[in-house]
Amino acid sequence: MQAVTDIEVVPSGDALGAEIRGIDLSRPLDDETFGTIEAAFNEHSVLYFRNQDLKPEQLIEYARRFGEVQTLGFDHYAMNDHPEILYVSNIQDKGKDIGYADAGSVWHTDMSYEPHPPRATMLHAKEVPVTEDGTVLGDTLFASAVKAYESLPTGMQEKLQGLRAVHDVAGRRRKTGTADPEDQKKHEAYPLMPHPVVRVHPWTGKKVIYVNNGECGAIEGMEESEALALIEELADTVVRDEFIYRHKWAVGDVIMWDNCAVQHLALKDYKLPLRRMMWRITVGYTDVYE
Ligand code: SIN
Repeated sequence: MQAVTDIEVVPSGDALGAEIRGIDLSRPLDDETFGTIEAAFNEHSVLYFRNQDLKPEQLIEYARRFGEVQTLGFDHYAMNDHPEILYVSNIQDKGKDIGYADAGSVWHTDMSYEPHPPRATMLHAKEVPVTEDGTVLGDTLFASAVKAYESLPTGMQEKLQGLRAVHDVAGRRRKTGTADPEDQKKHEAYPLMPHPVVRVHPWTGKKVIYVNNGECGAIEGMEESEALALIEELADTVVRDEFIYRHKWAVGDVIMWDNCAVQHLALKDYKLPLRRMMWRITVGYTDVYE
């Protein structure tokens, strides 16, 4: 059992994000140690742990401390014996992707098209793309939707109160122009989902902009062009440079982000033969409060 005295929380120096040092996630955590990590998570929204080497069941056990671990719908990319873990990867076998290669290619917050979107998502880096000159590619960017809300003028904050944006499971592909025939089936599984434009964080009580360019295509009761302009303005605010932490990956990293507080984007600036392999796990079901 690891003790709370081992832990160091080192803020990234950016608007969000902190490194947790002194913890081996393959070993059980006592309640006090977990409490310190959870408090840091609520405060910094993104936590990263370096030099971890977890087996699937160890990652799942750690994730379980934050809520119910989800089994995802993209079953063909899930780990055989551990369907809680999804491969996010560009690696192919016989010409076919073995993982979800497209994950995170536009700014979004995970599964905002669900009635109870996940609390947290975790990635464990098993392979990262490195060029011959040693440059690591495939960074992930995180933006604080809390700081972005706090930056809005009072008049705008008031205008947003009571508005509900419509989240679309196929919105990402609509944005990237890659709509596919599966979208109809996805809409049957996940009907369009309205959520408040300003969400109250279930753990911190802080207000958050809960609108993203990837998945929101309408605001209830608002004329389309006005709604799209407002969505774009808010989404652009969230991803302003001053609200971003950019994660440079190393093999062994475990990173977790707070889907209630953060949007993220995976940079697709690498190609095979440079390989990237992440194990991804999603945890907790949240209520979306206004
Ligand atoms: C994701 O959006 O889940 C993937 C992020 C990444 O691959 O960096």
